[in-house]
Parts: sequence; structure tokens; C-alpha cells
Amino acid sequence: MKAIIWTKYGPADGLKLQEVEKPTPKPDEILIKVHATTVTAGDCEMRRLQLPLGLSFPMRLYTGFLQPKRLRILGQELAGEVVQVGERVTNYQVGDQVFGTTGFGFGAYAEYICLPATHDDAQGALVEMPTNLTFAEAAAVPTAGLEALHYMRKAKIGPGKYVLIIGGGGSIGTFSIQLAKYFGAEVTGVDSTEKLDMMRSLGADHVIDYTREDYVKSSETYDVIIDVVGKHSVAQRLKLLKKNGIYFLAYAKPSHILLGIWMSLVSSKKLNIESSNQTREDLLSLKKLVEEGDLKPVIDRCFPLEQVPEAHRYVESGGKMGNVCITLDPGEQY
Ligand SMILES: NC(=O)c1ccc[n+]([C@@H]2O[C@H](COP(=O)([O-])OP(=O)(O)OC[C@H]3O[C@@H](n4cnc5c(N)ncnc54)[C@H](OP(=O)(O)O)[C@@H]3O)[C@@H](O)[C@H]2O)c1
Repeated sequence: MKAIIWTKYGPADGLKLQEVEKPTPKPDEILIKVHATTVTAGDCEMRRLQLPLGLSFPMRLYTGFLQPKRLRILGQELAGEVVQVGERVTNYQVGDQVFGTTGFGFGAYAEYICLPATHDDAQGALVEMPTNLTFAEAAAVPTAGLEALHYMRKAKIGPGKYVLIIGGGGSIGTFSIQLAKYFGAEVTGVDSTEKLDMMRSLGADHVIDYTREDYVKSSETYDVIIDVVGKHSVAQRLKLLKKNGIYFLAYAKPSHILLGIWMSLVSSKKLNIESSNQTREDLLSLKKLVEEGDLKPVIDRCFPLEQVPEAHRYVESGGKMGNVCITLDPGEQY
């Protein structure tokens, strides 16, 4: 089968299209023909090994000190079709269409992948695909959608809550705007000029152009801040949080762990750096929201499998709207 092999840490030219052996499912696994996957900011960080929370060194020890060895194929989410089931599998049949995350083994930049049929928690989550999405659209939902849902649950977002989403036009941001509106909050999205209309169309009540407006100096305050950018000063932005408010940080540095501990001792404000647990139950909740028309992935553009390196460069160049997909079906619509 064809796969994009991660041959070195660093630039996207280390991602090479190669012919590798098609995997065979173990008794508890299913073999999935991958129809679509994605390139996220997180995939690019993994490729470069520039990970949050100081995890780069431990990850290097795990994946291979000088070059990736244990994990050779990136790609953390997918939509596809079950083409073979292991002998002990009872919950899937050949022909089922599924979507989900690969968990820690990655491997979605390939024509086929084997995943446990009871895929859940740390291993990732897999369920039947929403009936009203294309494969490309479905592939874009799991990781960012689960992250956004985790924030909604953790902050108990509902009517009367003022929510600020910094990076509202990206992957996690576009799901967060829609979910926060769905749960009844008043939502402000922050992103670059080209994404303001898109954020409004997703339901944002207010939008801020970070390239033109220094919102950090504003006197507005929020119950919940979802910050997916993390490159800027979190301490400055904490001033925008109301008393007892909660600040979610998608890309945290080791210093943010200390800041979070300090805040828990001296302040009513909370800094949260946890990620979603990626459970089947939460993925089923997203599937239901999608099927009922309350959630829709925003797709910027799709690339074919051969162009995964170009897709990585495109994501890293900034400016994408929502999600970038890889489709393995020529002519797939999105
Ligand atoms: N995607 C996931 O499933 C996931 C899960 C857990 C954690 N994370 C982490 O979360 C982070 C964000 O992920 P993502 O996939 O949502 O990234 P993304 O799709 O690249 O979104 C980031 C958004 O922030 C905007 N932005 C950049 N600088 C900004 C600023 N100063 N103020 C406001 N907005 C700004 C970007 O717009 P411009 O490019 O136009 O400036 C972009 O729209 C990554 O570091 C990733 O590791 C991601």
C-alpha cells in the first residue's frame, strides 16, 4: 500500500511517499481503507518534534532518538471503510463506514490502517461515521471536535456565559464557536481579517481582528477563554477573565504548569491545560450534533495523499480556514 513515511524530524520534505506492507488485523482489530485524513497544526508540531509541555524530549526517546523509528506514519484522524475484521470482532462488519482518531499509534497517512475494534480512551476513539458528511468532512471532526467538546463540558458552558475564543477561525476554534453557541453562550471569536465573516457565519456574536485590534487592552471580561494560539502572553490575557473564570490553553509550555499551580493557590481564576480524553461516548455526541445539523466542519481545502508535504507547508504558512484534509479518493467532494 502507499503511505507517507515520516523519515526525519524537521521540515516537511522529510515526509516521503513510499510503498509499504499492507497491515493485517489482529483478532481484535479491524482493517480500515482510509478515505480521508487531515493535516492539523498538531501534526506539524509532531513532525518537527516541537511539542507542548516539554514533551519533545520524552517523545524523541520513544519515537527514535535521531530519526522516527517506532512511529513511521503520521496522521491522527480519519474517515474510512471497514474492509476486514479480526476473528474476535463482533461490533463491526465489512462495509461499515467509520471515523475517529488513531490514538498514540498514528498511521492515518496511508491507504489502510488497523485499529482495535473497541477503540477508546488513550487508544483513540472510533465510531460509525455521520450519515450526512463526506469522508473528508468526517475526517476533520474527531481531534479538534473532541478538544472543543472537552472545553464545553469542563467549563459547563451554557446560557449567560461570555466566551472568548482566541484562534476562533482554526480547527479547534471553528468547532468551539459552534459548540459554545449550541450550548447557549455569548461568543466572541478572535482571528485574522479573512476569517471574521466565516466566524460570524458559524454563530459568533462578536469578532475581533487580532491583526488590527489590541483586544488585550479592552475592558471586556469573559467567563471562559479558549486560547488555541499560546504563542503570546497568557498572563496578559488572564486579565480578560472574570472572577471564577476558566482559561483553556491548547498549546501549553512547561511554565504554564507552574502558572496554573500558582493561580490555584492565589486566585479564583483557573488555568486549564488538559486535553480531551478522546472517548467513543464523546465522539458519538459529536456525530449526533453533526447529524442533527448543529455542527459542521469547516474545510479550507483538500490535498491528495501524494501531496501531504505540501499540505503540511500550507498549514504552517498560516491563514487556513478551519481544517485541511487529505483525500485518498480522486474526485471526492467536500
Ligand atoms: N487540532 C487538534 O485536534 C488539537 C488537539 C489538542 C491540542 N491542539 C493544539 O492546539 C493548537 C491549535 O490547534 P488548531 O488545530 O486549532 O490550530 P489552527 O487550526 O492552526 O488554529 C489556530 C488559529 O489561530 C489563529 N491565530 C494565530 N495567531 C493568532 C493570534 N495572535 N491571535 C488570534 N488568533 C491567532 C490562526 O490564524 P492565522 O493563521 O490566520 O493567523 C488560526 O486560525 C496547536 O498548537 C495544537 O498542538 C490541537
